[in-house]
Amino acid sequence: MTAPLIVITGANSGIGKATALALAKKGNRIVMICRSEARGLAAQQDIVEESGNKQVFLELCDLASHASIKACSIVLHQQYKSIDILINNAGGIFGAHQLTEDGLERTFGLNHMGYFLFTHYMLDLVKAGSGKRIISVASIAHKMTSSIPWGDLQLRNIRYRQFQAYALSKLYNIYFTKILAQKMLDEKTGITVNCLHPGSIYTGFGTSGSKAFAKLVQVGGRFLPKPKTGAKTSVYLATAADLSTVTGAYYAHGKRAGISRLAKNKEAAQRIWDKSLELANIESYGVIESV
Ligand SMILES: NC(=O)c1ccc[n+]([C@@H]2O[C@H](COP(=O)([O-])OP(=O)(O)OC[C@H]3O[C@@H](n4cnc5c(N)ncnc54)[C@H](OP(=O)(O)O)[C@@H]3O)[C@@H](O)[C@H]2O)c1
Repeated sequence: MTAPLIVITGANSGIGKATALALAKKGNRIVMICRSEARGLAAQQDIVEESGNKQVFLELCDLASHASIKACSIVLHQQYKSIDILINNAGGIFGAHQLTEDGLERTFGLNHMGYFLFTHYMLDLVKAGSGKRIISVASIAHKMTSSIPWGDLQLRNIRYRQFQAYALSKLYNIYFTKILAQKMLDEKTGITVNCLHPGSIYTGFGTSGSKAFAKLVQVGGRFLPKPKTGAKTSVYLATAADLSTVTGAYYAHGKRAGISRLAKNKEAAQRIWDKSLELANIESYGVIESV
């Protein structure tokens, strides 16, 4: 029997790399989705050496770019007939307001639209797989916001605050999980969709934040748990047999966890979903032109 195929975004460092390593050690086939060939190849070599598993592959994609995600989708459809488990993990925090090439505020574009779009392009492959799990790394930071700037989702007209942008993007990860989970139930696909907070972990996170935050993380972060600990909940959601029917849930430290009042708002979740479809010019989520 062929080993399950697990696709992990942002797998060249931090929690994504540790997740890829742990799942490679369990004998899975791993596809690492990374934006830098050099960093991706170095991490791939580490994972193969440490796990003894040669079935670790690398594909390049800038998850903050719609064109790059689309191009990566074409390559993945040529290489693989199905995906068993998809783990959306790539993300970051940005110290200044920047726009992606698609005109989106970078935190929104990478952390939210990166998950939303990459999953859109992978959904037919996940439907064809037998693992049928989609997992997204969100964050407890979603609790740091209590309102959504509806008229200004790209944060152009308000004073940019990195933590607000980050908190909103992680709130949208929970919305994405909940709406997609319901959609997969309605369509009887058998696919479960869950998200998680990995803990506060010492990784490369924060290096693209403001200088002060990057310095704080560099100094104080050393006392935090290591990426191996941060990977545990992702690995649990990907592998636990008792979770095969759990969907639309948020986990932290390997357990179901509470979300903010705003994160429970179904109307807001649907509005963000609809807005995301509009921004990406998607008519039918998960339906892509044949490649
Ligand atoms: N660390 C924590 O305490 C913590 C807490 C809660 C949630 N999280 C979440 O955990 C996830 C992983 O973060 P981490 O802590 O492991 O940080 P990290 O070490 O900085 O890893 C982030 C990964 O995302 C990749 N990435 C960034 N921008 C990308 C892009 N445009 N296209 C493709 N890949 C891109 C990075 O690749 P490059 O090396 O090329 O930049 C890297 O592999 C994120 O979603 C983060 O929000 C982290």
